Amino acid sequence: MKSIPEALLTCTDKTIPLVGFGTAVYPLPLQPSQTMKESILRAIEIGYRHFDSATVYEPWELEYLDLYLIHFPVSSTPGKYEGPIKEEDIVPMDLKSVWEAMEECKNVGLTKSIGVSNFSCKKLQLLLATANIPPAVNQVEMNPLWQQKKLREFCERNGIHVTAYSPLGANGTIWGSSQVHGIWVHEQGVSIVVKSFNEERMKENLDIFDWKLSEEECEKINQISQRKGCRGVLLISKDEGSYKFSEDIWDGEID
Ligand SMILES: NC(=O)c1ccc[n+]([C@@H]2O[C@H](COP(=O)([O-])OP(=O)(O)OC[C@H]3O[C@@H](n4cnc5c(N)ncnc54)[C@H](OP(=O)(O)O)[C@@H]3O)[C@@H](O)[C@H]2O)c1
Repeated sequence: MKSIPEALLTCTDKTIPLVGFGTAVYPLPLQPSQTMKESILRAIEIGYRHFDSATVYEPWELEYLDLYLIHFPVSSTPGKYEGPIKEEDIVPMDLKSVWEAMEECKNVGLTKSIGVSNFSCKKLQLLLATANIPPAVNQVEMNPLWQQKKLREFCERNGIHVTAYSPLGANGTIWGSSQVHGIWVHEQGVSIVVKSFNEERMKENLDIFDWKLSEEECEKINQISQRKGCRGVLLISKDEGSYKFSEDIWDGEID
């Protein structure tokens, strides 16, 4: 069994394993999986201890969570959890109230830490302005094609740990060598959640700790023109107060 290194979440006394096991099955709309349960059990045997899930992937019944994230800065009509959210069910998010509810979840012991996902610098700033408990984590798309330099700097200044999702490429598309992608993301000092239900690839994705990219390789990756893969087009709604364009979700931090 492989031992996976961990990072300290700055604003808590908790740690997070640097490689987590993703469970979203693409393409969109996300697909149910017959093999998820066996894959998760095998992943535990291989050494994975960080599992990323969401109501829209395939709900687990769990008594508590180590880390509970706001999945996207968007709300749906209360009681409706299907993904993708139907346009008529997308409602404006009252971020302050939602975060207060997240804080309550932590205070009553339903989760050990709380955080966000898909938050831009601007939305993190809004959140930090009223939060009693700062977000421990911002989980965002990050790979050589969407390197998130500005967001990572913001998070570092504010003690927010970054977890990279789609480290090999967004929307189920892999560009180039999966291992080079994984090693590069790891070398940026973030944790990653990577999905594979194939045993050999599950193991391969833990080999990133055994390799180092050369300066020349890093320089080439730095020069890759940037384009965000996950643009959130399914979260757009014409209704008042909602996001009318993809750019609004990311506050322009998109190209
Ligand atoms: N917070 C969010 O909004 C959000 C959004 C997207 C994703 N996520 C989370 O992040 C996880 C990972 O993101 P992702 O699934 O988009 O992308 P990813 O993990 O970067 O890539 C997954 C794809 O790569 C393949 N793959 C995995 N390891 C490989 C390897 N070593 N060599 C070649 N192919 C490999 C997988 O197929 P096989 O299974 O066949 O190996 C799958 O098709 C998700 O599962 C989910 O838990 C979160």
